[in-house]
Amino acid sequence: MKGRKLMGWGVCVAILFNCSFAFAIQYIEPYLQAPKQDGMTILWWTNSSQPNSSVEYGLGNYNNTVAASNDYVSSMNLYKHEVKLNGLSTETTYNYRVQSGSTLSNSYTFKTAINRSSNFRFALLGDGRTDNSTVISRHKHMVDMAGDRGADFIIEAGDQVKAGTASHWNTLYRNIVTNSAGGSSYGSKIPYMTAVGNHEIWDGSSYDSGNLTTSMARYKAFMANPSNGSSNPNWNERYYSFKYGAATFIVLDLNNTSSNSYDNHDYLPDGSTPDWEPGSEQYNWMVNQLQQAQQDSAFTFVIAHPSPYSRGVHGSPSDTQRGYQLRALDPVWRQYGVDAVLTSHDHTVEHCLTGPAGFENDMDVNDPNNLNYLVMGNSGYSSRYAEDGWNTWMDIEGNDGPPYYTKYFYSWAGNDSLSSFWDVNIVNEGNNLWRADFQVVRSDGQIFDPFSIERTDPVPGPATVSLMVIALAGMLRRKN
Ligand SMILES: [Fe+2]
Repeated sequence: MKGRKLMGWGVCVAILFNCSFAFAIQYIEPYLQAPKQDGMTILWWTNSSQPNSSVEYGLGNYNNTVAASNDYVSSMNLYKHEVKLNGLSTETTYNYRVQSGSTLSNSYTFKTAINRSSNFRFALLGDGRTDNSTVISRHKHMVDMAGDRGADFIIEAGDQVKAGTASHWNTLYRNIVTNSAGGSSYGSKIPYMTAVGNHEIWDGSSYDSGNLTTSMARYKAFMANPSNGSSNPNWNERYYSFKYGAATFIVLDLNNTSSNSYDNHDYLPDGSTPDWEPGSEQYNWMVNQLQQAQQDSAFTFVIAHPSPYSRGVHGSPSDTQRGYQLRALDPVWRQYGVDAVLTSHDHTVEHCLTGPAGFENDMDVNDPNNLNYLVMGNSGYSSRYAEDGWNTWMDIEGNDGPPYYTKYFYSWAGNDSLSSFWDVNIVNEGNNLWRADFQVVRSDGQIFDPFSIERTDPVPGPATVSLMVIALAGMLRRKN
């Protein structure tokens, strides 16, 4: 009897142990990266080695299984699992779940990138951060709201963590982006992509170039950004581009440069960031991407962390983390038809406009010669600074050199209970015309600064091609 009792306890303890072990190994639920028309990248993390890891997926079932990697990441003291799915159908929703040893994740769905002619929606978050429970809660709420509004993907423009430590990366992915420990489930259903911010490079106590093997190693481990082909492995994945529908997204790392005349961050040492000034590798790569985008996309969006134009403290030319030098990029962005520059860094929510001489006479946000700069530094972290003149265009010429105009310097500065994100809806209007609808969505559901830009597609749509063929056939018939 005694023996049987002991055995019973042993079974109970074993079951308990197994149960807690089973829950523990799925440390970070699966999340999505690098959406393609025929593929998707799925990553997840465990706190013990799980060589028998895989993704199960299918159309309404889980009939396909693909083995995953099982890589120990020393900077996180965790195991990373990654699968690149290929050969999928475009704009198609798949079921999926992941297996780590004997543990099966929750079941999710993902949608492959859309057809070139389809509408889509994305959310731009910035400075969501991970500082404390209040910031974490607001950041998670922004991911939830973006998902609830039907975003096909989310991009965060840097400073998604307070610091690039293992603890803050765990918080971002367990408590905010996935529901591993109370976070949003949307990171498991739609891609969540990022730009590098200075807080990703910061190791929690100081900035130094050693971060390339600590905090930035963590950034690269969590992301699966497309390669930029850089000859320097430190810079690969720190800037990248991708196409989604009729738009090209060019994501840059503009945190600092080693050129003294363009230095835009006093604390980031040379060698800790890729150079960005004209003639640098990143700049030349960017111009190439811009040229391609002009030929094959209706919209070109640039995303980076620091803001070239802002009324926040980082907008001042004398600030230690100034975006001022980045204004050197404004002419080339306008030359190549960039439609919006989406940034963060300053904890403001702001809409600036630049343009050629005289643009201030009508302040046309839809004029392709003008360029909209949208700042979002409030997707978790509270908005800072005063709110004077927040809803009228103001000339900021007195601030420094070349003039620019800003409005919607939002009025909820300092209110810790409110956060926001830019919601962008891309609409195919037919006849080769596309429209991008922008608006700020605040955490209480209020909408601010809705505006639209309309652009002609450089690639004729199927209807236009058909009309051209018919016209050509008519001309040939007439000739005959
Ligand atoms: Fe920042």
